[in-house]
Amino acid sequence: MLKETTAMHPALFQPSKPLLLILAAMLASTFPTATLAAPPQLVGATQKGAGVFVQTCSACHGMEALHYSDLARLAPSLAPQVEAMAKARHQNMDGSITSPYPDGAAARAANWGDAPPDLSNIAATIKGGWYYIQAMLTDYRPAPRGVSMVPGNFYNPIAMTHHRHFHMKAPFAGLSPAEANQKAADVTAFLRWSANPHRTTAHVVAWWGLGWCALMAALIGGMLACLPRRKPPAKT
Ligand code: HEC
Repeated sequence: MLKETTAMHPALFQPSKPLLLILAAMLASTFPTATLAAPPQLVGATQKGAGVFVQTCSACHGMEALHYSDLARLAPSLAPQVEAMAKARHQNMDGSITSPYPDGAAARAANWGDAPPDLSNIAATIKGGWYYIQAMLTDYRPAPRGVSMVPGNFYNPIAMTHHRHFHMKAPFAGLSPAEANQKAADVTAFLRWSANPHRTTAHVVAWWGLGWCALMAALIGGMLACLPRRKPPAKT
């Protein structure tokens, strides 16, 4: 009986080439979990940017939506520095990265009247977004002749598109332009990550989801193609 069935439906019992290909593709697609991390170049910039925040920006800015432990998890090599920073601020690693100043008045007093904003979501909320931040960080220059500066104001034409007076010192003063550009790009990547920490993973998952749908469609199509066709009943 079995023999008869096999003989009747050879396509079902001898896997055809397309079926094998589809099975191989299905096997290959079980590896997405290994690739769920962000692309290496993005991880690198975000991690280096976290370092720039710890070493430079955190002297004036807080990032309340982040905890010290988030930084240590994002960039494990930074852990000792982050621990030292938390300790110096009498916080533990689970504490959020609050402003280094005790209150708004102290922040303004130390910065010529303008409090440094919290940077947690700034890449999403500031006019011009991350592009503005990256450009602003490297656009400090001496004031042109005839422009009078209020005390503690720094000349930065990009920032001047947002402000009449800009009170943030050049954070990368003294570095070569190439180094300053690199640090600005890295810290901006970090600020983009903090404004949307799940973006990269969401993109990767979305692409894998689309891939899966396409694969399933191909699989179903392939199976249908492999099914034995019934001969139409002979006309009498
Ligand atoms: C010495 C203190 C200080 C340091 C260090 C510092 N900032 Fe600031 N930052 C400020 C102050 C003060 C302001 C508010 C300026 C204003 O509104 O005039 C500011 C504003 C900003 C803004 C908002 C700009 C705008 O147009 O509103 C961003 C973005 C920013 N800082 C990013 C950074 C980054 C990134 C770093 C590290 C690379 C950094 N800051 C380092 C003091 C600092």
